[in-house]
Amino acid sequence: MARPWKERVFMALLGAATVSGLTMLVLVLVEATNVLLPADTKFGIVFDAGSSHTSLFVYQWPADKAKDTGVVSQALACQVEGPGISSYTSDPAQAGESLRGCLGEALALIPKAKHRGTPMFLGATAGMRLLRQKNSSQAGDILAAVSGVLSQSPVDFWGAEVLSGRDEGAFGWITINYVLGLLIKYSSGEWTQPAEETLVGALDMGGASTQISFVPGGPILDESTQATFRLYGANYSIYTHSYLCFGRDQMLQRLLAGLAQVRLSSPTAGLVRHPCYHSGYQATLSLASLYESPCVHAAAPLNLTQNLTVEGTGSPGACVAAIRELFNFSSCKAPADCAFDGVYQPPVQGPFYAFSNFYYTFSFLNLTSRQPLGTANTTVWEFCQRPWRLVEASYPEQEHWLRDHCASGLYILTLLLEGYGFSAETWANIQFQNQAGGTDIGWTLGYMLNLTGMIPAKAPAQWRAQSYGVWTAGVVFVVLTLAAIVGAAAVHLFWVQD
Ligand SMILES: *[C@@H]1O[C@H](CO)[C@@H](O)[C@H](O)[C@H]1NC(C)=O
Ligand SMILES: *[C@@H]1O[C@H](CO)[C@@H](O)[C@H](O)[C@H]1NC(C)=O
Ligand SMILES: *[C@@H]1O[C@H](CO)[C@@H](O)[C@H](O)[C@H]1NC(C)=O
Ligand SMILES: *[C@@H]1O[C@H](CO)[C@@H](O)[C@H](O)[C@H]1NC(C)=O
Repeated sequence: MARPWKERVFMALLGAATVSGLTMLVLVLVEATNVLLPADTKFGIVFDAGSSHTSLFVYQWPADKAKDTGVVSQALACQVEGPGISSYTSDPAQAGESLRGCLGEALALIPKAKHRGTPMFLGATAGMRLLRQKNSSQAGDILAAVSGVLSQSPVDFWGAEVLSGRDEGAFGWITINYVLGLLIKYSSGEWTQPAEETLVGALDMGGASTQISFVPGGPILDESTQATFRLYGANYSIYTHSYLCFGRDQMLQRLLAGLAQVRLSSPTAGLVRHPCYHSGYQATLSLASLYESPCVHAAAPLNLTQNLTVEGTGSPGACVAAIRELFNFSSCKAPADCAFDGVYQPPVQGPFYAFSNFYYTFSFLNLTSRQPLGTANTTVWEFCQRPWRLVEASYPEQEHWLRDHCASGLYILTLLLEGYGFSAETWANIQFQNQAGGTDIGWTLGYMLNLTGMIPAKAPAQWRAQSYGVWTAGVVFVVLTLAAIVGAAAVHLFWVQD
């Protein structure tokens, strides 16, 4: 009578061992495929539509969500031919057409099968902000033309928009801190949150605007300059401000207009002596183009068809004086907490990365190796005093910007020291760099990470927990399998002994 009962128990235990063993095998296989199979690569495309030109960036990352933190890399940077999209006011359709070349390059790089799953964005910055102020219907026409072309492409076009200055600053800050691995770090199998003191500030300068973003040492007293976000479980509150019309190209226009204004009211009207151009430099330009910019507020002279002759004098002292006129330093009621033009700013704090036009100007002047302030000053002044004939002979290919490096160099020094309040001491915290880890520094990567939700608000600890879960289940099933086998063996032993 006992045998069938023991036999049934034996068979049941053996069955349990088999089921448990198979479950364990499946779990191990699932985990092994996760670890061993090469992660699928995903792509994203962002157009940076700046005031003077448009760039396209293609980013790539492994599709495995648990492992993609900190591994988005730049697969392509393409410079769109022609001016910025805001220049196409008389022919908006052409703004869209201009993007086709770089778009083609991006599509050729990304495997066809992935096109449909690739998100694409276009963000326009200060050039379009200015145009929208001047004539919003023209700005709308251009965005529509651009969207028309991009939405026909086989990728997943999410839209074209004009970024606010605050977002531009915040996304630049996110990009640089993400690329440097300062938001979260994965090393020896663990996610860690680096100390807050290691976070870096961002100094960005485009053609039409310039941005400063950093974590101040104290509270941010003016909400309009604050950006807050939650990334990987940590709350960040950064100070950020974008100065419209303080980008390099608009600064140069305002500078020239300021100098021309003085001259136009004098008997030698038509001739401008420009202290920031090298001595011996001479050029003729149309007045109309100068007064087209919405950043130039000076009253336009009656006769805009007049041409202007500009003559360089190469005098850095007078150039700095003319540059100071572009700032309103007297508009700050509380100078300790104020930059210029009445804009609130806490004292600069921590290390900074200065990129885009900050970098290009300083790279031309060989000043990107963290030279002390004294060296930077002397180098710029000496360059400004070089006769045009020598400058031209030294850089035969750099025709376009060559005359402007002196003004840009002195402008950057004035902005950083007198505007933002860097000192000879804190100057040493500024690094002039345009790439980190093979990725260009700018707002585009931060923008894409945010829009695709790739930076979660929560800490990645739960991803580890998930993985732990699989192993815990594995161990439980090993124990269950063994228990069932031992049980079956014991039952079998008694049954045989019976
Ligand atoms: C804006 O541009 C459109 C088209 O170019 C033009 O018809 C209109 O008069 C402009 N509006 C303003 C306020 O300048
Ligand atoms: C500077 O700002 C102050 C206060 O806002 C203003 O009264 C003054 O006119 C400004 N100066 C210039 C040159 O714009
Ligand atoms: C920068 O360095 C290069 C190579 O040493 C030199 O040819 C060039 O003149 C320097 N530029 C300036 C602006 O001094
Ligand atoms: C990122 O996107 C979210 C919405 O998805 C938004 O609420 C947040 O403000 C964005 N972050 C920044 C820095 O703009």
